[in-house]
Amino acid sequence: MTEKKITLTLDSESETESLGVAIGKHLQPGMVIGLCGTLGSGKTRLTQAIARGLEIEQPVVSPTYTICVPYAGRLQLLHMDAYRIAQAEEVDELALFERVDDGEVLIIEWADRIEAQLPDIDVWIKMAPTSEETRSFEAEARSEKGVSFLAALGQLFNGNTVQ
Ligand SMILES: Nc1ncnc2c1ncn2[C@@H]1O[C@H](COP(=O)(O)OP(=O)(O)O)[C@@H](O)[C@H]1O
Ligand SMILES: [Mg+2]
Repeated sequence: MTEKKITLTLDSESETESLGVAIGKHLQPGMVIGLCGTLGSGKTRLTQAIARGLEIEQPVVSPTYTICVPYAGRLQLLHMDAYRIAQAEEVDELALFERVDDGEVLIIEWADRIEAQLPDIDVWIKMAPTSEETRSFEAEARSEKGVSFLAALGQLFNGNTVQ
């Protein structure tokens, strides 16, 4: 597998929004995206924009208390937050492998906490606050699907800034 990594500086929330919409437009059926980064780094905010790119009209809320929320759009999105997951059975009950096999897109906040129980991650995204309004963004492909996805995305974002 060829390596593929994208690093961007997000200078405002609207840049995060543009990036998320572009991600949503390029996602393919059955892709799994793992998000990591501290509380407030923008994982949910990015997912809301990804949902817009997937043509999801329902407002996307933080799934911290519900663990997992499905949304219908161009593709079915399953938005998950592993922050409060205490037991392995909670994850197994969600039938994630079957749902991804069926073509649903899975986005997991705090995916690094439960990686062993998840279907293979195609792209890891790491976000970090660099000031109140700015975020660093790093995406790394872990599968062929992820590599072609990031290649397409990389062409839209010239150099180091989101246009
Ligand atoms: N450039 C930016 N990108 C994303 N969020 C930003 C940005 N600048 C400020 N914010 C704010 O940071 C917060 C991110 O919260 P959230 O997405 O819930 O974080 P997480 O899900 O990682 O805990 C939101 O209140 C958002 O308005
Ligand atoms: Mg969140």
